Amino acid sequence: RLLTTVGAAGAGGLALGAAGGAAAHAAAAGDAPDPLSAVGSGTVAFHGEHQAGITTPMHSKGHLIAFDLAPGAGRKEAAALMRRWSALAARLMAGRPAEGDDTGVALDAGPSSLTLTFGFGRTFFSRTGLAARRPAGLDPLPAFSADQLDARRSNGDLWVQIGADDGLVAFHALRAIQRAAGNTAGVRWQMNGFNRSPGATARPMTTRNLMGQVDGTNNPRPSDPDFAQRIFVPSGGEPAWLAGGSYAVVRRIRMLLDDWEALSLTKQEQIIGRRKADGTPLTGGTETTALALDELGADGKPVIPANAHARISAPEQSGGAAMLRRPFSYHDGIGADGTPDAGLLFICWQADPLRGFVPVQRKLDRGDALSPFVRHETSGLFAVPGGAREGEYVGQRLLE
Ligand code: HEM
Repeated sequence: RLLTTVGAAGAGGLALGAAGGAAAHAAAAGDAPDPLSAVGSGTVAFHGEHQAGITTPMHSKGHLIAFDLAPGAGRKEAAALMRRWSALAARLMAGRPAEGDDTGVALDAGPSSLTLTFGFGRTFFSRTGLAARRPAGLDPLPAFSADQLDARRSNGDLWVQIGADDGLVAFHALRAIQRAAGNTAGVRWQMNGFNRSPGATARPMTTRNLMGQVDGTNNPRPSDPDFAQRIFVPSGGEPAWLAGGSYAVVRRIRMLLDDWEALSLTKQEQIIGRRKADGTPLTGGTETTALALDELGADGKPVIPANAHARISAPEQSGGAAMLRRPFSYHDGIGADGTPDAGLLFICWQADPLRGFVPVQRKLDRGDALSPFVRHETSGLFAVPGGAREGEYVGQRLLE
């Protein structure tokens, strides 16, 4: 990651830090604008086959916000809202201010890889008179025995995922989206998350979660031959308006950190089946070596325990189920019970929730070794349309 200096911009070898003063920069460089840092200048395209924010590398800041349509708002109002939100997203992702009444919060910063991703919940379809076009993939998720779900912070008619590599840029987008909702939709719930900042590690690495584990190693990769098929709804599939789209399952999973942190390192590693330091399987190799699930130790027991999280969640254990996990960590202070209100805003993407999240969570819910240390507190399921083409808004193929 480059720090903001003017040395490279022909400013006579001056190397001011970020706090060096914008006026001094501009004067020295003959009023040429300062170059943005590598982080600030990151840009993700709004238009494309898929919406941004799914295969985009994980962001350091995220906001999730769900809305319910206002009483009386139907298909026409929803279409106008998606048109407004899409135009706004295209502007903000290009690093431009919102039209008219921009709050100024993101001034000075580049787009910082901002993405906005829009989804429709099950209830959106009945509220807009479109129940006949609701995809089967939005059938409610089954109840899992360990769920302790707060219905008010679950689901919603509309869902927006905001990600950026700068906290002010992400917050700016969050407020702009909320303001643009106008009288059409009101906030149902909102959550804030984070991941490691780009440049915090010497080289790009898989991120860690708040339990300290390397998390995300065995995700499907865009270079896998079956990646698109597993993550995106195919064109020619059902329903046609969702081609190029995906389903997002969103679970706020509290980590019982006081209990987790009291465990020995060995115990923590057995719970996952990987080493904490570098994510290597307990059966050896490097982070990306396959788990040797059949390998037995000197005691005759599997080296990767029978109830280890990585064993139970492996797609091979659930008929090839696959999902792309792209979560944020969250921390909202200390809860009423005196323990950290912290954990994972678990977001996973798949072409069909019944072949992605559901079979894996069914298995985990029978009690993998991690289960006693986590608690699913909210749940959301959203159909995320394909990306908008030039001149189109997100969801237009459903709403027009
Ligand atoms: C793997 C942590 C919840 C599905 C892993 C790994 C860790 C981890 C450390 C190993 C590294 C990796 O491959 O990414 C957690 C934590 C959770 C959680 C801390 C809760 C707070 C879930 C849930 C699901 C899930 C709810 C889905 C229902 C998976 C899958 C893998 C995995 C599919 C890859 C397995 C493989 O193919 O090797 N998880 N996980 N996890 N987890 Fe979780």
